Amino acid sequence: MRLAGKIAVVIGAGQGPGTGMGNGRATSIRFAQEGANVLAVDRDLASAEETAAMVREKGGDCIAFAADVTKEATLAAAIAAARERWGRIDVLHNNVGVSIAGGDAPPTEITEEAFDRICAINLRGTVMACKHVLPIMREQQAGAIVNISSAAAVENYPYVAYKATKSAMVAFTKQIAIQNAEYGIRANVILPGLMDTPMAVDTRARAMGKSRAEVAAMRDAKVPLRKRMGTAWDVANAALFLASDEANFITGVALPVDGGALVRIG
Ligand SMILES: NC(=O)c1ccc[n+]([C@@H]2O[C@H](COP(=O)([O-])OP(=O)(O)OC[C@H]3O[C@@H](n4cnc5c(N)ncnc54)[C@H](O)[C@@H]3O)[C@@H](O)[C@H]2O)c1
Repeated sequence: MRLAGKIAVVIGAGQGPGTGMGNGRATSIRFAQEGANVLAVDRDLASAEETAAMVREKGGDCIAFAADVTKEATLAAAIAAARERWGRIDVLHNNVGVSIAGGDAPPTEITEEAFDRICAINLRGTVMACKHVLPIMREQQAGAIVNISSAAAVENYPYVAYKATKSAMVAFTKQIAIQNAEYGIRANVILPGLMDTPMAVDTRARAMGKSRAEVAAMRDAKVPLRKRMGTAWDVANAALFLASDEANFITGVALPVDGGALVRIG
């Protein structure tokens, strides 16, 4: 029970259409298995409700909440709802992120609309969620923020908006880590590599006109460790560690969860 009695807000707790488990859903379930109560926030309320039902099966208190991270007011409402229900917020987990589903493209092809949309979802959403949770955590003199970036922040990656926003999330996490250390608040960021999630595999299969198995095999072949993608549980377990008191002295860290992908280049 590594999060016994803790209150966690997971933003992006649903998942896109496709096979298997997304990072936000797996993280919500792992947090609950370890004793946390979870506010499962997503733009897609039905998907967040599915997550909440799975969490309750594990015995945790979990309610779904609809919020679109491009709308600050809905994020503020989500944070307020968690505090009202449980009286405090120990963990904020920012999982929302889009790439090709948001219209991302190489630098020579990107449109203003797609660039602005992806910045608002990936980066501004995380900033605004932190804006509203930090005063609560400062008052508590405690809290842990876990942001989900991507190995794309470091690796050669073809599309510009995902690359730029995921890089900026690393800088932003370090900024809030140092500016809130005196309040006992920790902030860390995870860089997932190639994961077998619906967003990553099924969205690409649809976009490329290939089967899920073909896309999965292409991605597996690129992973140094065991030639196999990671799963949402790998991200969830890393998030659990960073959210828990086991990471009590760890802040401002960018943790790759990537089967060795970044070692290949660095
Ligand atoms: N899957 C991978 O290979 C991989 C690799 C690196 C990083 N990541 C990152 O992990 C995170 C989760 O990825 P996933 O594959 O589980 O994706 P996912 O699509 O399954 O989950 C993302 C969730 O965010 C929600 N969402 C999207 N836009 C939203 C908005 N405007 N407001 C509120 N919710 C919104 C979706 O409804 C979905 O439930 C993302 O940040 C992604 O960039 C994934």
